[in-house]
Amino acid sequence: MNYARIIGTGGYLPENVLTNAELEQRIETTADWIVERTGVEERHIAAPGETTCDLAEQASRRALAAAGLEPGDIDLIIIGTTTPDHVFPSVATQLQHRLGCHGGPAFDVQAVCTGFVYAMDIASRFIRTGASRRALVVGADTFTRIINWQDRGTCILFGDGAGAVVLEAADAPGIIDSRLHADGRYKELLWVPAGVSSGYDQTQQNAAFVEMRGSEVFKVAVTTLKEISEQILAANHLTVADVDWLIPHQANRRILAATAKRLGLPEVKMVDCVRIHGNTSAASVPLALDVAVRDGRIQRGDTLLLVGFGGGFTWGAVLLKY
Ligand code: UT7
Repeated sequence: MNYARIIGTGGYLPENVLTNAELEQRIETTADWIVERTGVEERHIAAPGETTCDLAEQASRRALAAAGLEPGDIDLIIIGTTTPDHVFPSVATQLQHRLGCHGGPAFDVQAVCTGFVYAMDIASRFIRTGASRRALVVGADTFTRIINWQDRGTCILFGDGAGAVVLEAADAPGIIDSRLHADGRYKELLWVPAGVSSGYDQTQQNAAFVEMRGSEVFKVAVTTLKEISEQILAANHLTVADVDWLIPHQANRRILAATAKRLGLPEVKMVDCVRIHGNTSAASVPLALDVAVRDGRIQRGDTLLLVGFGGGFTWGAVLLKY
């Protein structure tokens, strides 16, 4: 049992949809500008009182149902999130409690938009060493809770959501390889300057809101997503032609298109949910994966390349046979 294999996927988006037409009423922008520069037409926003754990629970239950498993079959829970319900305990422990599968390890991973890719890498290592047999791996964020709705450079991009997969130990891949990276020198290009230890007050100047130097992030994201894709493929003696589906972090339609072009990958082989999801941070990759599994594009045996990029900066890739 040397590999971790996906046996079920699930996704959940909050009911409330925010359109570009509504954003036109709130800030100095146009629907045309948003679509042209980002590709986003609508995004889902968590209802008041609806938390990251609520979204994660819905996505997890769907992934468990798709896998044909009960919560008690799960012995590891890892959630990629930057917007936990509480400072502590972690979302993962509260999800474990709600599902009723007590005792196994459960923890959150904070790698912003790369959170799910980080969580997959870690879960795969638990399974490969025999420490776990069946893992629930989730990317969930209520990122709009840390958005400044007066900042037109960020509020147009982000939405809320959750995606989940169930991984199981298997004799054959499964996850072929995964790689994680970070470079803290880029902190101030994409960050929330306030925090628990440094202090924050949502009514004052040190409010906990996302700040982003968008065009600078854009350039690094495109270069990095291309490089990480090529590195993991080369290390496994594969080429872009061997990839059936590229599932990149859904940051911006133009970032996705530029990445596909630089890789020489036809856009039809890339899963793109930016138009209807926006950027859901750690949820974006597993949500896109779930959409393409459920609509039948992704078939058993396909080679998938999941690539993430986010604040930190963090980035990473997971190469797998579905
Ligand atoms: O998830 C983690 C990674 N995050 C990302 O990958 C995000 C990466 N960045 C982006 O997606 C893009 O940089 C944005 C969509 C945020 C901005 O698009 P851009 O083409 O890079 O625009 P810009 O920031 O260079 O701004 C161009 C102009 C500016 O006006 P001036 O200074 O040229 O007069 C902005 O003020 O567009 C203006 N602008 C807007 N105009 C209308 C910025 N936001 C808006 C807006 N509506 N919402």
